[in-house]
Amino acid sequence: MSELNDLYQEVILEHNKNPRNFREIADANHQADGHNPLCGDALRVYIDLEDGKVKDVAFKGSGCAISKASASMMTQAVKGKSKEEAEVLFEEFQKMVTGNLDIETDENHLGKLKIFAGVLEFPARVKCASLSWHTLHAALNEEETVSTE
Ligand code: FES
Repeated sequence: MSELNDLYQEVILEHNKNPRNFREIADANHQADGHNPLCGDALRVYIDLEDGKVKDVAFKGSGCAISKASASMMTQAVKGKSKEEAEVLFEEFQKMVTGNLDIETDENHLGKLKIFAGVLEFPARVKCASLSWHTLHAALNEEETVSTE
């Protein structure tokens, strides 16, 4: 686990410094605001869904390094995926950060997102890691706002 922890630190810092898809999509046909009431941080996820596929996805907002890195990697993970595939990733990610999916033994499609299994050791940060995923899920389902509570 310590190798995964080192990687976790490294990847979080890198994505926090240089977040991918950190921008607005002016004509996004799906978007939602996510809010973490524990800290007051909020972000907006923009999705351009075309023929049932995530053609483009981006985010804007303020948050800690974990929430920003998680949002950045989420956009990379779901871009080009179908809505259903993105929802599967949302569910698997949620299960992983809440200790309900064993990344070693349970079948999953998480790939690089597995580094966020590291938040399990820091329960207060689970909502940081899942904020963008909840917001993505809300946007895909035409909900305008979502809270991690
Ligand atoms: Fe606010 Fe992490 S401290 S999202």
